[in-house]
Amino acid sequence: MSNKTKLHNWEFNTYNDPELTDLLNTVKNYADQLPKGNWLTLTGPSGIGKTHLARRLIKFWKRWHIWDGNRCLYPDFCEWARFLDEMRGSRPAQKIKELQYMGLLVIDDIGAENGTEWAAEKLLEVLNVRRGKPTVITSNLTLEEIWANSQRVGSRLAGGGKVKLTRAKNFNLRENQSVPVFVEPETEPEERAELEIETLPPAIAEVAKRIANKFVENANV
Ligand SMILES: Nc1ncnc2c1ncn2[C@@H]1O[C@H](COP(=O)(O)OP(=O)(O)OP(=O)(O)O)[C@@H](O)[C@H]1O
Ligand SMILES: [Mg+2]
Repeated sequence: MSNKTKLHNWEFNTYNDPELTDLLNTVKNYADQLPKGNWLTLTGPSGIGKTHLARRLIKFWKRWHIWDGNRCLYPDFCEWARFLDEMRGSRPAQKIKELQYMGLLVIDDIGAENGTEWAAEKLLEVLNVRRGKPTVITSNLTLEEIWANSQRVGSRLAGGGKVKLTRAKNFNLRENQSVPVFVEPETEPEERAELEIETLPPAIAEVAKRIANKFVENANV
């Protein structure tokens, strides 16, 4: 395991539960191979830490300035149900196109929106623009359930990288869950770089992002 992965604070209790240990190791192995463009799909019951670990991967990306040497440096977290609502509003094609330029993309909680055909179609479009790019998907549906809703979504997830099913008890239902017993890291996290990005006024950050995207588009022609 790389030092970057070891030093990162995953803020995750495994409770010596083999299922949770396995989940954490899967996420760490995924972090180790970034910015390679495999996908990681985390499935399992509610409250076991799927979203939590996906967010920690975004922190990991920012903290170590991971980028693929070619595309935009920013990672992005996409709450799938909310994103669908936004797309119903306006310019869905433009919103989907923007996602292709993110360094690491998390698509959080697919399937929670009562899978309509339209939603499955939009998810396919997003998955298509993320082909070969680092992408983490979370769901509390199993792959089989996702597959039953949409064979095309299911087969793309299965073909895009690793699909990890975790069967563990909800974090919030565990005894002593308020006592943190994180083993790592041994050093303080370095969050300076991230602060610099996040303290940019949102309007300026938005413009900077757009310029970066334009630049990449032109470079790709
Ligand atoms: N193993 C864990 N160690 C530390 N915190 C955890 C762990 N599992 C969950 N949590 C915390 O519990 C809460 C719920 O976790 P999270 O939202 O990641 O669950 P989830 O698996 O995404 O659930 P859902 O399927 O409902 O979206 C969060 O505040 C998260 O930080
Ligand atoms: Mg979640």
